[in-house]
Amino acid sequence: MDLDQLRAGCLGCQKCGLCATRTNVVFGTGVADAEVMFIGEGPGQQEDEQGLPFVGRSGQLLDRYLEAIGLFRDKNIFIGNIVKCRPPQNRDPLPEERQACLPWLREQFRLIQPKIVVCLGRIAAQQIIRPDFSVTKEHGQWTQKGGVWFTATLHPAALLRNPRQKPDAFEDYVAIRQKIHEVCTHTYTV
Ligand code: URA
Repeated sequence: MDLDQLRAGCLGCQKCGLCATRTNVVFGTGVADAEVMFIGEGPGQQEDEQGLPFVGRSGQLLDRYLEAIGLFRDKNIFIGNIVKCRPPQNRDPLPEERQACLPWLREQFRLIQPKIVVCLGRIAAQQIIRPDFSVTKEHGQWTQKGGVWFTATLHPAALLRNPRQKPDAFEDYVAIRQKIHEVCTHTYTV
């Protein structure tokens, strides 16, 4: 199975109720040999309409942070979400929706084999790093599990609501660049 085959399977998923209200499944975007994966919460309205992650206002902000440290979707990273379908009215994805969707993310990890995973916001951090993870207090900290480095930063939508946190977030991205230099082999040479 490769990433395109996984995508094809995911696009027809009916494992939770979100399939009834979605316009498109948002599988994720990026390169199959990415060493760095960014994981958000779930699609919003624009993502649902276009079938691509982080294409709305928060996505534009995310792209600015990424470009600042030499990362580009479709060049040297993969961007995905905890749930692949939009929760109505952008509510938090329910525990059963996250559980139903998790096998897709696990397969994405297994195929891509990232060296670094960056959780964007609370929902991703609590699902992937620790259930009681506090993004406010613990963003920018790193933990290693099974040879993979994990960190979390503030969700770009939170930064749009609270721009005073932008310098803190920028520091997280600078640390991500440093970690890439330490543990990645081809992220900055493609
Ligand atoms: N917010 C997310 O968490 N993910 C997206 O894809 C878009 C907005």
